Amino acid sequence: MESLASQLVPKAVKKLIPYQSARRLGGNGHIWLNANELENSCQYGDPAQGINHHYNRYPDFLPQDTAQAYQNYCMQVAPALTCETVAVRGADEAIDLLVRTFCEPGNDQIIVCPPTYGMYEFCADAFSVDTLAIPLLENFQLDVQAIKANLANTSLLFLCSPNNPTGNIIAQNDMIELLEASKASTLVVVDEAYIEFAPQSSVLHLMEKYPHLVVIRTLSKAFGLASIRCGFLLASTSVMSYINLIIAPYPMPDPCAEIALKALSVSGLEKMNQQTQALIKVRNWFIAELKELAIVEHVYCSETNFVLIKFNTLTSVYDYLLSTGIVARNQAHEVVLKDCVRITIGSKTSMTETLNALKKFN
Ligand SMILES: Cc1ncc(COP(=O)(O)O)c(C=O)c1O
Repeated sequence: MESLASQLVPKAVKKLIPYQSARRLGGNGHIWLNANELENSCQYGDPAQGINHHYNRYPDFLPQDTAQAYQNYCMQVAPALTCETVAVRGADEAIDLLVRTFCEPGNDQIIVCPPTYGMYEFCADAFSVDTLAIPLLENFQLDVQAIKANLANTSLLFLCSPNNPTGNIIAQNDMIELLEASKASTLVVVDEAYIEFAPQSSVLHLMEKYPHLVVIRTLSKAFGLASIRCGFLLASTSVMSYINLIIAPYPMPDPCAEIALKALSVSGLEKMNQQTQALIKVRNWFIAELKELAIVEHVYCSETNFVLIKFNTLTSVYDYLLSTGIVARNQAHEVVLKDCVRITIGSKTSMTETLNALKKFN
């Protein structure tokens, strides 16, 4: 039986032959003159600092060891994981790749559930793909029935859990109901960028049963590696076979792949877990303090490294914070979050200064 991925992928993508880069073509030899690289160039490496890269060579066409290390990390929580993993330039590239692989410009549609991460809609817009917005309910959970009613014409359903900017986990029962309802029509993409702050809520274990479930991850959040632009896309073999037709020939610079490998080592994971626990403590302390402030109407429950706050003031708390040198994220553009500001959880020192600034607000 033809897979859903194969049914969804536009003809133009299906007939692509992946770019035959020098690394992909490979070969056996001791003199490499196939990629128009400089043969002897090491001037940027500093062996004294343990950095002895040969930056003159192109990286792997797909960094297999980084992808394997990430898959091993995932298998710690989902031992029966059967999917494939590919390393990409941040979760943002994974979103873009999915839209470009499975949607036909001018013809196809994605569903998003705002307020949520803006890149799903942006990538669709940039590729002339329609976005149907089905807002979250008042409790920031999915409007399951409305989504179900619109699955038939939808190539990709983007869900974000824990969700940005609301900070909550999407109920897993709802996601399962949607996975059941979308089997014949829609790939369900779950963006788990913040999953390390709520690992128990991951949907990885559902991938075996639902091959049309795709998971997006990143090292930009709990791993603290936003600058290296490393994310991961986890999907079934059939989904991945089409992603591989379109992915850039060298998606990951070698130095970034090396740093990612260190982060995914036993000691790297230990450090990440410790940092995550420490951050959660600061977050919970910050939330408790915020709740004492007269200007705070509501602090939304957070399963992430940020907190969404509704203020009861007429003047903008975002602008006020900015005037004190504290840059938060205004949510005024979201109708349902009109009086809300999203604040990332930083060090205890930064959060103390933020709290003191808020106490002085009048
Ligand atoms: C939900 C969500 N997904 C993806 C991203 C982007 O991640 P990356 O830095 O890996 O591109 C973000 C960044 O804020 C995010 O909030």
